[in-house]
Amino acid sequence: MTDHRVLVVIPTYNERENVEPLLRRLHRALPEVHALVVDDASPDGTGELAVRLAAADERVHVLHRTHKAGLGPAYIAGFRWGMDRDYDVLVEMDADGSHAPEDLPRLLAALDERSADLVIGSRYVPGGKVVNWPKHRELLSRMAGVYSRTALGVPTRDITAGFRAYRRSVLEKLELDDVASQGYCFQIDLTWRTIRGGFTVTEVPITFTEREHGKSKMSGAIVLEAVLQVGRWGLRHRVAQLVGLLKKLTGRAGRQAR
Ligand code: GDD
Ligand code: MN
Repeated sequence: MTDHRVLVVIPTYNERENVEPLLRRLHRALPEVHALVVDDASPDGTGELAVRLAAADERVHVLHRTHKAGLGPAYIAGFRWGMDRDYDVLVEMDADGSHAPEDLPRLLAALDERSADLVIGSRYVPGGKVVNWPKHRELLSRMAGVYSRTALGVPTRDITAGFRAYRRSVLEKLELDDVASQGYCFQIDLTWRTIRGGFTVTEVPITFTEREHGKSKMSGAIVLEAVLQVGRWGLRHRVAQLVGLLKKLTGRAGRQAR
């Protein structure tokens, strides 16, 4: 088990059929963790259902947001809520059952065993799996990975993964106020910030299983935001590298001329 005070942040938009079974599974796997459902005023009543579940279980909490504002802002609000309340590990997990709560003990164990600051539940390291995902979704996800790794020069295999455990010390240093990512590029954004901050990132294999109920919120706008943002971060990074190199070279040339 874990000695950490763990908050599992679960963003929801129209997940009425999924949230209750997920919380039940989570607490069967890890009875002592707390969960925070961050609901963007789901029209299907997910928020109201979560309130009823929270009233019956002190480990369950709900944060209501006024409208659908994207995955990034929902997570940031959830992280803030948790950091205000002394949780020391903040976990990201989808509400639709794609991330198995039974895998969470291994993510939490890796924080300590590998002295990691961020543990990513990864589909794309040896032992990781994707079940029932349409081929085009897996292809898109893998292409996003190749693109991000190339643009940013990072080794992370599953950089868009939405199943993760952060030490709060990382989130405290990431300047969450500056995070503008709204869609799923939020995951890339925070990974990139964590790596640049000099923190230790590790990946453990998980099995991602496509949802059985409800619909994915993935959209063309989410893909476009990721392509443009990652391109910008990569370009800025490469320009900074080039400027650094030129400074070093001109400094050396100057010293030789003297
Ligand atoms: N509060 C809130 N607001 N929740 C949201 C929003 C939003 O605007 N958009 C999505 N969610 C919630 C969903 O309700 C679900 O619990 C979770 O975020 C993931 O959304 P899905 O729509 O099911 O994502 P997916 O299965 O298509 O995408 C998966 O793969 C992505 C790419 O690898 C997820 O694992 C993503 O986290 C991942 O980035
Ligand atoms: Mn999903």
